[in-house]
Amino acid sequence: MTDQRSLAVVGAGYVGLATAATFLELGHHVALLDVDQPRISGLRDGVSPIDEPGLDAALARARERDTVLFTTDPNEALSSADVVFVCVGTPRSESGEADLSYLEAALTTASEAGSGAPIVVKSTVPPGTSSRLQKQFPELRLVSNPEFLRQGSALADALAPDRIVIGAANAVEGNLVRSLYAPMEELGVEIVATDTESAELIKYAANTMLAIRVAFINEIADVCEASGADIDDVARGVGLDPRIGSAFLQAGPGFGGSCFPKDTRALVEASRQLGAPVTVVEAAETSNRRRRASLATRVVSLLDPSESPRKVGVLGLSFKSGTDDLRESPAVDLVRGLLELGVEVTAFDPLLPAQLESLAPEAMLAATALEASRGVDALVVVTEWPEFSQLDFGDIAETMRGTTIVDLRNVLDSDAVSAAGLSLFQVGKSNWRLGGVSP
Ligand code: NAD
Ligand code: UGA
Repeated sequence: MTDQRSLAVVGAGYVGLATAATFLELGHHVALLDVDQPRISGLRDGVSPIDEPGLDAALARARERDTVLFTTDPNEALSSADVVFVCVGTPRSESGEADLSYLEAALTTASEAGSGAPIVVKSTVPPGTSSRLQKQFPELRLVSNPEFLRQGSALADALAPDRIVIGAANAVEGNLVRSLYAPMEELGVEIVATDTESAELIKYAANTMLAIRVAFINEIADVCEASGADIDDVARGVGLDPRIGSAFLQAGPGFGGSCFPKDTRALVEASRQLGAPVTVVEAAETSNRRRRASLATRVVSLLDPSESPRKVGVLGLSFKSGTDDLRESPAVDLVRGLLELGVEVTAFDPLLPAQLESLAPEAMLAATALEASRGVDALVVVTEWPEFSQLDFGDIAETMRGTTIVDLRNVLDSDAVSAAGLSLFQVGKSNWRLGGVSP
């Protein structure tokens, strides 16, 4: 058991809640501060604003032990904290740069609350940000500690990270933050203790490297479609080289989510401003944007033009499985693109994100995958929810008008689909261009 500390976490989103839950599980007291009153009220009532495995249970345990406080009052959260973690959003601004206004607001709040504790920036920020903000807020002691968790496994990732990166200008603050991670370090997790610029750049370099891999394998999938190669075999054959590895080589509809798109853009902007442009990231970003923009026309090219109106069912709306997050979701691009082309769309997602109404009001939401397939000419799997690979394609074939199944994640069993008399089109398979596997 480590020394029990009083910690404050600013920002109750994915990173803030996972950070708070992690330190609560490690036995510390945590005050969670957010400017969003309904979010804080909900958390007090035991309602988490995000769907993440294990989060509700961890917060409930802390509530029972009386070790967690949810508040909108900066003084209540910050005045007695030993360490403050800042986990506010750094979204893409109009110009594409990271919008640091929420971070600056949070630092102003910490300054006004007279916090003498180290302020640990977990938000993703361009290299040089902490040094610049340190000059702007000389009364604060800033440390950079980027976060690498993934949505859908946020708490598990935060509790068992691959590595912990701590960037500090001063060893005292750096060591204090490091001591909080001692239980993980004892289990063998490596600590990268460095300066703040390096810590900040590690985060962008990691995210953009992964984004480049996804964009790359998607272009290789296009080459497969054009040449008759099979992307699943190609990705496997490439990934078995230990110098390359198999992670992030799954071809699909393009990368999305709240981080890859904004972080690729932010690094492109920041590197240009530094006079050291990262053009390979720029290329990945362009490639991904084009891919996502082409999804609707690719699907429409498979529809019978004589049907009016043409109807498509969309399975999965979140940007990947395991999350209810629709931010920068390729599925939303597809839905909007189909609607623009005059296609009627019925969509289903296991977590049914209510936001679809504001993102694509003309789309209809179905309560089940079968309902989304009723009367449609084509059914498209866009998000790799495991239950889609278990669907009964016999039932689906009976309820559809057409026979086209598009699998943008290559998760369906081609034999099961063909046995139901349906034509399957998958990413990076030659049948996409050649007209599909005939029933
Ligand atoms: P989020 O949008 O889910 O949550 C941000 C929270 O901060 C919101 O609840 C908002 O109300 C609150 N907030 C904004 N300004 C505030 C202020 N001044 N004081 C108190 N609260 C404030 O964001 P997120 O997804 O948790 O991301 C946070 C940061 O972490 C971003 O920089 C992101 O790039 C990075 N990151 C995110 C993930 C992820 O998977 N989502 C993973 C690693 C890193
Ligand atoms: C990503 C990183 O994986 C985290 O390490 C990082 O902390 C986080 O961004 C962040 O900075 O916010 P996340 O956005 O939750 O996490 O999602 P990923 O699992 O990385 O997937 C990102 C996108 O790439 C998704 O659209 C996913 O469908 C796509 N992807 C991923 C593929 O198309 N193929 C793959 O092989 C892997």
